[in-house]
Amino acid sequence: MKTHVTGIKSEFPSTNGKNHKPASFRKVKTSLSAAAAIQAFILIFAAITAGCTQGGKNAAMNEKIIALKEATHKGMSLEEALKQRRSIRRYSDREMTEAELAQLLFSGQGVTGSIRGLNLRTAPSAGATYPMELYAVVNNVEGLTPGIYRYLPASHSLELLDSGDFAKALSAACLGQGSVEKAAVNFVITAVPVRITGRYGERSARYVYMEAGHIGQNILLQATSLGLGGVPIGAFNDREVNRILSLEEDREITVYIIAVGTRR
Ligand SMILES: Cc1cc2nc3c(=O)[nH]c(=O)nc-3n(C[C@H](O)[C@H](O)[C@H](O)COP(=O)(O)O)c2cc1C
Repeated sequence: MKTHVTGIKSEFPSTNGKNHKPASFRKVKTSLSAAAAIQAFILIFAAITAGCTQGGKNAAMNEKIIALKEATHKGMSLEEALKQRRSIRRYSDREMTEAELAQLLFSGQGVTGSIRGLNLRTAPSAGATYPMELYAVVNNVEGLTPGIYRYLPASHSLELLDSGDFAKALSAACLGQGSVEKAAVNFVITAVPVRITGRYGERSARYVYMEAGHIGQNILLQATSLGLGGVPIGAFNDREVNRILSLEEDREITVYIIAVGTRR
C-alpha cells in the first residue's frame, strides 16, 4: 500500500500532510467565469441526477435508496452532551440501530429549513454552498447490508453505493486504527470543491475544513446524546480512503472521518 505516512509518535499516527491540499484546490486559478460555468454545469448535472435518484423515476437506482426513520430522538441537553463528550475508541459488538444511524446522519447534514427554495441544514455552510458530502461506511447496523452509503439530505435517505465489508480496508487506510475496524459505522465527510470555489476561490480550501469540523462535532455530540461512543479520525491515507469510496479525486476528496460504535 502506498502511504504518505511518516513517524508514528503521538497517541495516534500522524500523516505528513503532503496531500492535504489537493489538486482540486490548486487548480482553481482558472478564470472566475470559467469556474462559475463549470460549477453551474455540475450543479445542473447534480440536480438532474438527484432528481432521478430521489424522485422515483429510475427503478434500478430506487432499489438502492433506503428511506430513513425520522430523527425524533429527544436526548440530554446540549450542555450535558458537551460535558460528556469524550473520544471513545473501543466498542462492543452490539449493532447500532437504524434509528440511531438515522439520527446521526440527520445531526450531520439533515435538512432543518429552507430559504428561497434552498434547503438549509443542521451544520452551517459558507454562503449555503453545501460543498460537503456525508457517507456512512456501515459495518454493524441492524437491518442494513454492510457497505458504503451516501446520505441524501433532501429526502433523508441513504443510497447504497457498494455493498461489502469495508471495515478492514478502511482501518488499514486509517493506519490500522482499531476504532475504525470495530466501529458500527464510519462517517466519511468529503468535499466537492467545485461547489464552493466559484464563489470563494482559494479561500474555499479553508472553508471545507471548517465545514467538516462542524459536521463532525454535530455527529460526535449526537453520538454522546444517544449513549454511543465516537472518535474523530484525522490520521488516514487520503488516497486510500478516496479509493475505497471510489471518489473521482479531481472532483471530490475525503476530509474527515468519524468512527461511531456502541459502548462497551
Ligand atoms: C482533527 C482531529 C484529528 C484526530 N484524529 C484522531 C485519530 O486519527 N485517531 C484517534 O484515535 N483520535 C483522533 N483524534 C481525537 C483526539 O486524540 C482527541 O480529541 C484528544 O485526545 C482529546 O480527547 P477527547 O476527544 O476525549 O476530549 C483527533 C482529533 C481531532 C480534533
